[in-house]
Amino acid sequence: RRRSTVLPRQAVAGTVPVALAALLAAAGPAAAGTVGASGAGDPYFPLEGNGGYDVCHYDLTLGYTPGSRHLDGQAVLRARATQRLTRFDLDLQGLTVTAVTVDHQKASFRRDGQELVVSPRHAVRKGQAFRVGVSYQGTPKPVTDPDGSLDGWIPTDDGAFVAGEPQGAMTWFPANSHPRDKASYDVTITVPQDRTAVSNGVLVSRKTAHGHTLFHWRQSEPMAAYLATATVGKFDVEQYTTPDGIKVFNAVDPREASAAAPVLKKLPSVLAWESRLFGPYPFRAGGAIVDKATNVGYALETQTRPVYDRAPDVSTLVHESAHQWFGDSVSLTRWQDIWLNEGFATYAEWLYSEQHGGTTAQQSFDSLYARPVSDGLWAFPPADPGSGAHIFDTPVYARGAMALHRLRTTVGDAVFFRILRTWAAEHRGGHGTTAQFVRLSERLSGKDLGVLFHTWIGTAGKPTAP
Ligand code: ARG
Ligand code: ZN
Repeated sequence: RRRSTVLPRQAVAGTVPVALAALLAAAGPAAAGTVGASGAGDPYFPLEGNGGYDVCHYDLTLGYTPGSRHLDGQAVLRARATQRLTRFDLDLQGLTVTAVTVDHQKASFRRDGQELVVSPRHAVRKGQAFRVGVSYQGTPKPVTDPDGSLDGWIPTDDGAFVAGEPQGAMTWFPANSHPRDKASYDVTITVPQDRTAVSNGVLVSRKTAHGHTLFHWRQSEPMAAYLATATVGKFDVEQYTTPDGIKVFNAVDPREASAAAPVLKKLPSVLAWESRLFGPYPFRAGGAIVDKATNVGYALETQTRPVYDRAPDVSTLVHESAHQWFGDSVSLTRWQDIWLNEGFATYAEWLYSEQHGGTTAQQSFDSLYARPVSDGLWAFPPADPGSGAHIFDTPVYARGAMALHRLRTTVGDAVFFRILRTWAAEHRGGHGTTAQFVRLSERLSGKDLGVLFHTWIGTAGKPTAP
């Protein structure tokens, strides 16, 4: 979640209401002979992801030296070709690549902006499973997103804060970096022994020798590249298993420890509460990384283990936890649909407040609806931010949550919560689109919801009636 101080935004000139049907049409990568496309076909981030193959597993072996900010990396990708490939791309920004292999044979490669262009010695056949090895090293640098935020490997005074939404994964490992291609991960990181390296999923092993500690993390459930982390710092570590069997690993910057403790204590009950609302927690591991990073300004729902740039408040904990269902387990197929992540996580905050003695969702809705027509809240429809520069703006979060509230008051609580649970269950570990969510809502409610969704997610401007 963005810090609220940066949430208000100015209106976007030239945003026009677009018919819901047009908003729901999806694009895909263009098939191009035997050369894999340089992007996944997402107009918001055209070079993100690549065409021609699907990655099923990443094996990343990293070494990081906080003092010199030097990263050593060895990436092994297991992939399957979706077309014949004489050449294909990976996303990688900066760093120096020293060798690339395809099925253990040396491949030639060149760099072209954020693309690592690989030409295997023998073409990969359509449908073939293949292995890509990339050796690389250097000083990772974060990228600046179109909204001005730092993204990727962000150095801190004692390590690095690593978050990748929407395009930061490529700053620290070669990837097919679009949420459309999810994969499992093994991440092994070696750091000086007074540091902790935290990634996603379960800690498989931890070994200290010769002044260094090696952490081996395993994320077995499919994950989008932007949700990977390898955050390094001096952390207090806490490990336990919840009554529901979730393996929790918390890493907390000692400077934030006293502020974070009372909030992190609520994690098991927040996950249990969300499981009652949204269905079973989708992962076997959980936890939090609290890493003081003054130049970041947001938290990210890194899979199983969100990263917070300071001690979170309960609402932010609820938000990032809700993303584990909405955003992480159920992924986007295109960035335009970002309200499926942010509107849902924001609505989870409203529900938590309502059910824990705070303001009701109706009150949250009403106070937003009271904002004048000139407010940035109404600048564009949640289902059409227009470009990657606006995917984290107020309409996506707040008006996205308002749309869900209108859905709830229209279909009633029983059907509304069935819709949320069915959404999480039917798309678990996969993907969802806005069009699919609209269809599901209509199927389970038996109502024509075209006007409702058109008004609340498909049209710019303040709706004339709440
Ligand atoms: N998805 C994050 C959250 O709302 C926000 C990430 C913001 N990232 C950025 N590059 N501005 O929980
Ligand atoms: Zn969010």
